[in-house]
Amino acid sequence: MKAHIRTYGCQMNERDSENIAANFVERGWSITNNEDEADAIIVNTCSVREQAENKAIGKLGHLINYRNFTGKNLPVIGVTGCMAQNRGGQLVKILPGLDFVAGARKTHKVADIAEQIYRQKLTGRVPVAPVVDVSDDLTSHLNIDKHYPLARSSKVCAFVSIMQGCQMNCSYCIVPKVRGPMRSRPTADIVAEVRALVDSGVKEVTLLGQVVNAFGIERRAPGKVSEFVDLLERLNAIEGLQRIRFTSPHPSFFKDDLIEAYGRLEKLCQYVHLPLQSGSNSILRAMNRPYRAEDFLRIAERLREKVADMSISTDVIVGYPGETPEDFRQTVDVFKQAAFDMAFIFKYSPREGTKSAQQPDDVPESIKDQRNKILLEILGEQSMRFHENMIGRTFDVLVEDRAKRGQDMFMGRTRNHRKCIFKADESYIAKTVNVKINSATVTALSAEIVG
Ligand code: SAH
Ligand code: SF4
Ligand code: F3S
Repeated sequence: MKAHIRTYGCQMNERDSENIAANFVERGWSITNNEDEADAIIVNTCSVREQAENKAIGKLGHLINYRNFTGKNLPVIGVTGCMAQNRGGQLVKILPGLDFVAGARKTHKVADIAEQIYRQKLTGRVPVAPVVDVSDDLTSHLNIDKHYPLARSSKVCAFVSIMQGCQMNCSYCIVPKVRGPMRSRPTADIVAEVRALVDSGVKEVTLLGQVVNAFGIERRAPGKVSEFVDLLERLNAIEGLQRIRFTSPHPSFFKDDLIEAYGRLEKLCQYVHLPLQSGSNSILRAMNRPYRAEDFLRIAERLREKVADMSISTDVIVGYPGETPEDFRQTVDVFKQAAFDMAFIFKYSPREGTKSAQQPDDVPESIKDQRNKILLEILGEQSMRFHENMIGRTFDVLVEDRAKRGQDMFMGRTRNHRKCIFKADESYIAKTVNVKINSATVTALSAEIVG
């Protein structure tokens, strides 16, 4: 039996897909990249913007139509993740032929559900009613520790989800609704998982959570030190592990102890993805983001003071309800001052069930496009400047895999997360090498190994 898993959305979803894959493998299935040979196809979905939902629904419709065209009742076709949680039983109505819907808190059950349906379908005649399971499961965070690498480089670099859910209730965001309240995993389980990964050859871990630096906050005794920094310390002590990254932290929890951890914990890489969302304090307030633009800039400034070549990336939403030209101008200012070298710019998309969806989506699409374009242009210049500053210098790079293009070309990242392309051979994979940067584009650095 073969399963094919297609993932939309964030790294946490990618990580869930790896756990789903591992659950299939445990049951004796293999994983295939080719959907044509799959006995079960799982679409792991995202709800964060309307476009993300539309893409997944389009894909599911296409898969079901194709199966109808072949006249067979296999593969099993199921949907999981955030859109499955968000839309539940509605999906089996708009997608007749869909075999199951398992919510974002049920990803650890997906392989089980798919296999049961597969066995029923093998017997042929009985038409199977679709299974819909979007009930709550507040223990799902205790079942997300299995690994089956799906991404190309994940043999060297691994994702580790350290929590599930979010309770920040940013006004525009659907994540708390679909993923539920924050549940942090026990520290000891995470340490054990990372140790096992290192034993299997992993050199770099990226800790994942929607508010990753608030790890443990829901169970923290008043006055106790940050459990997140404590976790970083324990991971830093694991022999054989070389690099630690995390995403996404929230500015409100980016306190001094975390800033101090840079430099002190030598495995902690000098790259932070710190979502700004807006540079206007009144928009931040409307968004229910409890920090001011100046607080954000202070964090960025202190990080840059503390660590050389610190790379900071961000998320920004343009066209939030009521965003004026002046609000946007402030965003542009902060965007330049923070000198982001990478960013994801999103056009506001109202999501049903969120607070801001009750307000009119009053910034016209053409203005959203314009603002998006302005920030992308600034970003291009800032990324290029950041890259140019690296030319002629030497950096250590963890060799991850073959590059997508070019014979004998390999790729790896610097500690500040810049992608380098260089000539090497298979024996370099998983090794850390020094490379000299020769030239740069906005997205990658061309380099040569110097030791
Ligand atoms: N937990 C992370 C991000 C989660 S979602 C954080 O707090 O930053 C990833 C990004 O999608 C967000 O940072 C935000 O910029 C964007 N996003 C979320 N909801 C959105 C919406 N309704 N419209 C447009 N962008 C949105
Ligand atoms: Fe959404 Fe805000 Fe939670 Fe991030 S912190 S997932 S933007 S509610
Ligand atoms: Fe999307 Fe869910 Fe992640 S809504 S961004 S896949 S948590």
